[in-house]
Amino acid sequence: MGDAVAHVLALNGYTVTLIDVNEAALKQGTATIASNLQRQVNKERITDEERTATLDRIHTHTALAEAVSDVELVIEAVSETTEVKGPIFETLDEAAPDDAILASNTSSISITWLAAQTSRAGQVIGMHFFNPVPVMKLVEVVRGLDTSDATFDAVENLALDLGKTPVEVNDAPGFVSNRVLMPMINEAVFCLMEGVADKDAIDTVMTLGMNHPMGPLTLADFIGLDVCLGIMEVLHRELGDDKYRPCPLLRKMVAAGHLGRKSGQGFYSYDG
Ligand code: 3HC
Repeated sequence: MGDAVAHVLALNGYTVTLIDVNEAALKQGTATIASNLQRQVNKERITDEERTATLDRIHTHTALAEAVSDVELVIEAVSETTEVKGPIFETLDEAAPDDAILASNTSSISITWLAAQTSRAGQVIGMHFFNPVPVMKLVEVVRGLDTSDATFDAVENLALDLGKTPVEVNDAPGFVSNRVLMPMINEAVFCLMEGVADKDAIDTVMTLGMNHPMGPLTLADFIGLDVCLGIMEVLHRELGDDKYRPCPLLRKMVAAGHLGRKSGQGFYSYDG
């Protein structure tokens, strides 16, 4: 998701550095941005000049500490595990300017916990974007226990400047978005596993009956089944209620490497 967030920031005039330890991932991210910008040119949403100027505002870097030494804001979007995010927040705290805000695009990890890995808890906040980021209007702005009003105001204003609608949410497992969305997706997988209906029928019920743009199984493939499972595990563990138990079929599909669109196979097949 990091490339999509960079896309939206750069399109709105901000200079952005995409950071990843892996050079190939940076090339892939930049190529994705170029292709999504071209899609917007083709749809006449932006001009060719805007596309070129946007790409010119995006730089890349593989060394985290060096890359953040002169920034005002970091938006972290690494893997959804505390083992990966914790040390990154420690490094950001050491390397970023004292007044920089450290935001996380996490979908379920505690902002309060991330803040506790730093010495600037007042400047740590959640900035949760939604896929596809250039299209979706919502940004959940998540307050950790010690997030300051100044930090909240700065991130809320940034979201507004990006043309998004910020919504204030307190730190809690899954925030609001995934606390509500993921149990629905998980229940759809239970319906499939128990033979209540086939996958097309389940998705059709929700698209035509509830006017959702995508059925829950299509949406799970779009988000990534590993991401959905990870979020259900956080809800189950942190809230301690078995109503959040991940569906065994979801676990089985992730174990098989059927992760949805990104792996070519999920509930649906994406070959070609
Ligand atoms: N970059 C730029 N533009 C994009 C894009 C992208 N990656 N993907 C789609 N678009 C644009 C298209 O160009 C098109 O633009 P237009 O309106 O100017 O013509 C518009 O979006 C609609 O796209 P399409 O016509 O190709 O297709 P659809 O009408 O079927 O819409 C969709 C696609 C917007 C993805 C729609 O199906 C949808 O809203 N699906 C639900 C998405 C959703 O629920 N997202 C949230 C996931 S949860 C999450 O992200 C949180 C995380 O923590 C798990």
